[in-house]
Amino acid sequence: MTVVARIGIVTVSDRASAGIYADEGGPAIRDYFGRVLTSPWEAVARVIPDDRKLIAETLIELSDREGCCLVVTTGGTGPAPRDVTPEATEDVIEKPMPGFGELMRQVSLAKVPTAILSRQTAGIRGRTLIVNLPGRPRAIAECLDAVMPAIPYCIDLIE
Ligand code: MTE
Repeated sequence: MTVVARIGIVTVSDRASAGIYADEGGPAIRDYFGRVLTSPWEAVARVIPDDRKLIAETLIELSDREGCCLVVTTGGTGPAPRDVTPEATEDVIEKPMPGFGELMRQVSLAKVPTAILSRQTAGIRGRTLIVNLPGRPRAIAECLDAVMPAIPYCIDLIE
């Protein structure tokens, strides 16, 4: 039997979830994994507003009920009042993995000085690794390139 890894992709954006503009972050994450993953996987995608409780509930749903080994969020990591993705992530993780945010900020800073504005974090909930990415589609490959080498090993360790 072939094991199909499930990857949660959560776009956190008031405007994308309201249909004011199209979600570009979710498809960019999907394209990225399509390019780099060699074993079978499927996406479980959600587009939701910047609401702390709803973000936390979605992370729980994708981790506990949908059985995703990895959940990646995009958006809501900045300093604006509605940016609460890191707080919602901290609400649901059992074990913080601060190295992910540190490394992504470090590599992003070499490209854009505003990378310091992203409060992106990561952590483990049960058998799921949750990783925050900034909202800009351009940031997605920049950040995932940095942490991707550690992701399969991390997932193996928590299985
Ligand atoms: N990181 C990378 N790699 N590339 C970017 O363009 N944009 C920054 C930062 N991190 C950026 C980045 C900006 S402008 C902001 S405000 C923060 O991410 C937070 O973005 P978010 O609130 O959409 O998550």
